[in-house]
Amino acid sequence: MMNYDSLVSKAKEAMKNAYTKYSGFDVGAALLTKSGKVYTGCNIENSSYGATICAERVAFVKAISDGEREFEAIAIVSSGGDYTYPCGICRQFMSEWGTDLKLIFDNGSETKVYTLEQLLPEAFIKF
Ligand code: THU
Repeated sequence: MMNYDSLVSKAKEAMKNAYTKYSGFDVGAALLTKSGKVYTGCNIENSSYGATICAERVAFVKAISDGEREFEAIAIVSSGGDYTYPCGICRQFMSEWGTDLKLIFDNGSETKVYTLEQLLPEAFIKF
């Protein structure tokens, strides 16, 4: 079982590939599946700003398109110098796969852990 420190390290490594031509704000994510695999992501910006995709969703779409459906934890880091919490679109996107997901935040010196249930209480579930 992978520990949270190594998941944070993978998120930092993934952040190096961030394409942030417009904001300069780099984000990295590392998503641990229940089967023990790790999928990483970085934010990818676009000249049409709204077409930007966040690091968290990049990690998720890589995993989901590879057939993964069950997730344990996601580590999220940024170049911002503080904890970086996911935007509302990412919270909603991640909730599709369960709100017991653990989110690990690192500010460069300390780590915090939340569940998605804590960050998106009373999530909309249609079925
Ligand atoms: N961003 C992420 O990748 N994840 C977050 O959790 C917050 C925001 C990106 C989107 C954009 O490229 C940049 O950070 C500034 O908003």
